[in-house]
Amino acid sequence: MTEAGKAGAKTPRASRVVMTETVLPGDGNVLGSAFGGRIAQWIDVAAAIACQRHCRQRVVTASMDDLHFLKPIRVGMIVELRAQVNATFRTSMEAGVRIESESPLTGERAHVCSAYLTFVAQDEHGRPVEVPPLVLETEEDRRRDQDAKRRRAVRLEHARAKRERLLAETKERG
Ligand SMILES: CC(C)(COP(=O)(O)OP(=O)(O)OC[C@H]1O[C@@H](n2cnc3c(N)ncnc32)[C@H](O)[C@@H]1OP(=O)(O)O)[C@@H](O)C(=O)NCCC(=O)NCCS
Repeated sequence: MTEAGKAGAKTPRASRVVMTETVLPGDGNVLGSAFGGRIAQWIDVAAAIACQRHCRQRVVTASMDDLHFLKPIRVGMIVELRAQVNATFRTSMEAGVRIESESPLTGERAHVCSAYLTFVAQDEHGRPVEVPPLVLETEEDRRRDQDAKRRRAVRLEHARAKRERLLAETKERG
């Protein structure tokens, strides 16, 4: 059976999320720019919605890859987050989020950050469950899927190394 014929199969387009926020004074630091943590929260929410649109299950954040804020976002700016599912695995999915700032006065936009997150679908008992496959429609979909597979290999290796370090530290402490 083709991916498209499998139960619940969807295109990345079907999971798309556009979330628009404004940076209020409570979202900012003393220098007048947004807290990185607030942007990370919005990223997590946008990515989770994309994954839920894909699988229609409960999802938990398994990981968020390194976040690099390329430009500050000033208090008062509009922030647009565009998210979609890039790739699906067995019980997990990678969502990509592109974050742009927009001046409410001039409309000038800047690409501030791109983020990649992995979510795991779970049943009501918190057990991982399989997610529907992704139907890749366009060249762009195929490129994103390939890139996501490469990132997954690196990410799982990092997670494994971190887990081992943590276990070793715990044993040392007794
Ligand atoms: C994420 C979590 C469910 C994985 O549990 P686990 O016992 O490792 O489960 P499994 O080994 O069956 O893995 C389930 C899936 O998670 C993926 N996964 C596990 N750790 C991961 C990580 N660090 N990054 C990306 N994916 C990860 C596995 O690759 C697997 O995906 P696949 O089925 O598509 O191959 C578990 O670690 C957890 O509950 N973490 C806390 C999540 C949470 O509360 N997040 C909110 C912030 S605190």
